[in-house]
Amino acid sequence: MKKFIINKFPQIKQDHIGNLIDMNLIENIIIEITKGQGVNVVLNFVSDNHKNILINCLKEGGKLLQIKDVDNEINNTIEFDLTKSIDFQVISLIDLLKTNNDDDEILLKLRDLLQNGVNEGIVKPLSSIIFNRDQLKLAFEHLMNNNEVTEKVVIQIQNEINNKLNSKQLISLPVIPRFYCNPNYSYIIYGGLGGFGLELADWLFIRGAKYLILTSRSGIKNGYQQMKINYWKKNGVKVEIISEKLAHIEKDCVNILEISSNIAPVGGIFNLAVELDNKLFCNHTAKTFDYSFKSKAWSTKNFDKLSRKMCKNIKNFVVFSSVASSYGCQGMTSYGMTNSIMEKICEKRIADGLPALSIQWGAIDNVGILENMQINNNNSIFAGTFRQKISSCIDALDKFLMQSQPVVLSMIIPEKQSKKSDTISNIVDAVIKIIGLKDSKMINKHVPLSQLGVDSILKTKLCRHKNNKKKATETV
Ligand SMILES: NC(=O)c1ccc[n+]([C@@H]2O[C@H](COP(=O)([O-])OP(=O)(O)OC[C@H]3O[C@@H](n4cnc5c(N)ncnc54)[C@H](OP(=O)(O)O)[C@@H]3O)[C@@H](O)[C@H]2O)c1
Repeated sequence: MKKFIINKFPQIKQDHIGNLIDMNLIENIIIEITKGQGVNVVLNFVSDNHKNILINCLKEGGKLLQIKDVDNEINNTIEFDLTKSIDFQVISLIDLLKTNNDDDEILLKLRDLLQNGVNEGIVKPLSSIIFNRDQLKLAFEHLMNNNEVTEKVVIQIQNEINNKLNSKQLISLPVIPRFYCNPNYSYIIYGGLGGFGLELADWLFIRGAKYLILTSRSGIKNGYQQMKINYWKKNGVKVEIISEKLAHIEKDCVNILEISSNIAPVGGIFNLAVELDNKLFCNHTAKTFDYSFKSKAWSTKNFDKLSRKMCKNIKNFVVFSSVASSYGCQGMTSYGMTNSIMEKICEKRIADGLPALSIQWGAIDNVGILENMQINNNNSIFAGTFRQKISSCIDALDKFLMQSQPVVLSMIIPEKQSKKSDTISNIVDAVIKIIGLKDSKMINKHVPLSQLGVDSILKTKLCRHKNNKKKATETV
């Protein structure tokens, strides 16, 4: 790094360039050169560890300017004993550039200062190394292998176009689209304090949402919900919890949309609410059958009708459905039907040129209604599906939101195994387990059991296992 600085800035004396490993030496040099007075300004963009030394290098009333580090939030805190008066300021270029406003006064001033600095040779741009668009791996390897970043790594997507952009000159590339929220819009999650609701809200926040509206019948109930909300708020998101408003009641639905629109134009509505009353069809009454319609079918119907008038900017109208809708599930007739109605609403919206998406989920792991039902065996098959990890559901959601089909499905189908191979692998596994080995690859399967150390006690254990499995008595 020293060599790099000498090459770039030959006007700096070599003995004025030190390194972080020997900060005490730097302090001594500075004190010596400035005849014990210290310097006017210290610009720091490394870790906290050296702050006291840096302050010692400052003269009375000097300035310590801390550049905010993107990777290291800690260095924005200040923890030291002040023995002299100094001026401490944190400079965050990242926050400045985030303003999204090219006419920002400070940005313009900064641009002019930089340009003047470049013209006068005070600011020296880093040189760059260019990689082609199909050399991404090489580019990252280059970055990883160079501890000291002395040049910019640039990926050239296409050749420079000097004259006005002409669509024929633009190349088209296959890409994997990603879903992003518009930071100027609000996103409503109906049933947002539920298991999947909180994960969805978190993901929308990661994808740029700045206004989250979560509805709940009764509001925040546990520490996890509160912790998540605090976290989003701390990170600059406006979070509104609307409670006691039920969207199947038209007046309440209007209220939800009004509150959200007053915060920011509604960009997305996600209906994740669910209430179940599972029973066989013959045991239902009209009232019990209607129970699960409120949170899904009737709410979605109102959201559809009202958002057409009240949410002109809407880009995502998403309902969470279930495989119970297309495949059915015992005791879930009303649940299946209410999901199916939501799907029909989505199909109609697409036909009308409006955004809509219904996602049929299989069983979901980690969070949500199944987890709350405390069906403990994680491998249990539910509605003909294995539980899908929430991270995998989010990956699927990302893809679904970037396509145009109104109804999509995500589930994990249990692998079908032939009974024969199942029995064999079970017996082999059982022998391996009973003998006390970890891996079947460790033994020759053609060696008699006696040579593997199976004595009379192990033999009895094996017989018991076989008999339990086959429900018949056999000898080994
Ligand atoms: N979890 C799964 O395995 C699974 C599988 C397939 C499909 N899904 C679908 O995925 C969505 C999310 O499910 P989840 O597992 O996250 O369920 P969840 O944890 O039970 O969350 C749903 C939330 O909806 C709210 N809610 C219930 N009735 C409501 C009503 N009438 N009006 C407004 N809000 C109401 C409840 O919150 P409050 O108590 O705060 O009001 C509840 O926490 C549901 O649509 C579900 O059908 C889930």
